[in-house]
Amino acid sequence: MMITDVLRTTLLQKAIAARQQSYAPYSNFAVGAALLTKSGSIYTGCNVENAAFGAGICAERTAAVKAISEGDDKFVAIAVAGYPINATREQLSLAFPCGICRQFLNEFALPNMPVFVVKTVNDYVETSLEEILPHAFGPKNLKNTLEE
Ligand code: THU
Repeated sequence: MMITDVLRTTLLQKAIAARQQSYAPYSNFAVGAALLTKSGSIYTGCNVENAAFGAGICAERTAAVKAISEGDDKFVAIAVAGYPINATREQLSLAFPCGICRQFLNEFALPNMPVFVVKTVNDYVETSLEEILPHAFGPKNLKNTLEE
């Protein structure tokens, strides 16, 4: 799918907006994500922490699970905006997806899936899942064992 300038801007805006829903009272680090699927839908997500620290979930996986649970399993692109809750302009950081989220997204990613890491709508980095998760282990690795 072609990601037009308008669509990319929408994704970035939705990631920034989704960040507002973040529940991060323990880390004070709020993350939002917006995931575009082949159907043209956009699923948003935020990080949701828990008093039992290990039980939290990242924004990217929240968005991914929302898509999968709606039967939307072909991921085209994702935008992620993450920085401290009360960050000033200068404190805006580029928060790349964590290792677990990279692996999780890889399961459903179409080839050359763009990953937009966002500070603001006008300040972002474009990379790809392949670039941040090279030599990925994925469903293809298990193909033979599943066929036997
Ligand atoms: N976090 C995300 O939501 N996505 C990432 O890719 C990195 C980390 C969240 C997890 C936790 O709630 C907070 O950011 C600090 O690690």
